[in-house]
Amino acid sequence: MQPVLARTKEDVQTAVREWRAAGASIGFVPTMGALHEGHVALVRAARAGNDRVVVSIFVNPTQFNSASDLAAYPRSEAGDVDLLVAAGVDLVYLPAADEMYPTGFATAVEVAGISDGLCGAFRPGHFRGVATVVTKLLLQVAPDRAYFGEKDFQQLRVIQTLVQDLDIPVEVKGVATVRESDGLALSSRNLRLSPEERQVAAGLPRALFHAADRIGAGAAVPEALEEARHAILDAGFREVEYLELRSARTLAPLAGLTEPARLLAAAWVGEVRLIDNVPLAPQER
Ligand code: PAJ
Repeated sequence: MQPVLARTKEDVQTAVREWRAAGASIGFVPTMGALHEGHVALVRAARAGNDRVVVSIFVNPTQFNSASDLAAYPRSEAGDVDLLVAAGVDLVYLPAADEMYPTGFATAVEVAGISDGLCGAFRPGHFRGVATVVTKLLLQVAPDRAYFGEKDFQQLRVIQTLVQDLDIPVEVKGVATVRESDGLALSSRNLRLSPEERQVAAGLPRALFHAADRIGAGAAVPEALEEARHAILDAGFREVEYLELRSARTLAPLAGLTEPARLLAAAWVGEVRLIDNVPLAPQER
């Protein structure tokens, strides 16, 4: 069945209201389009856990740090909609920028603490843009559950925090990162890699998984991180922006594996910035 396309919040709300009146549960997957198997994993999780699935495609201008990054963001609306039809989505919400930010729009959602550091330190205002648009989308669609990828782990934690703090009645579900066979996390930005850069890019997850294994086996954290930083640069990355062991819960820096943790990194290959992260659990001894 062809999914319904909605371009206004009223159209989304009408559809969701009807489904809810019929007793259906609603799953929601917010995206910026240029969809790939990572997004499809979120859609599958939403499909499995709900009677109806809504996906939004909105390239949110307020979360980009530069006009050139926004302009370079890949867009493929027709292909995206076809992919969502195949994945069994019930409604695709495609708002225009002035539907989300009409003249006079003046409010922002800022999640203090967890938005600082990591990507927040290098992309000023990014999480404010994400938190604001996700708050709006969650209130517009009013789903039972919303699905976000662990690929963007800090984003997931920012969204879990705002949902809890603002009493938004939605269950936030994290979905494990989908990777290529060589370990590279699927990302819309991978489209911008040259064939050579694509080879280099696999060095990032390789270094992260190796460091996670070493730390899990008892290696000292500073040494393991330093080794990983060198491995990423040796693989051909131009710059490592950050590479840190953080608490999976609070994102506070960790000196050792004292609680469930995440090893998170951002690095530049040519003109493309890639991020990735891997989980680590404290060893039972
Ligand atoms: P976008 O980058 O399109 O990602 C949409 C969702 O897909 C996010 O929750 C992201 O974490 C998830 N995702 C991306 N790559 C993934 C992968 N390889 N495996 C699993 N999940 C993956 O993230 C955004 O859009 C925006 O910031 C948004 C939340 C839509 C707000 O504008």
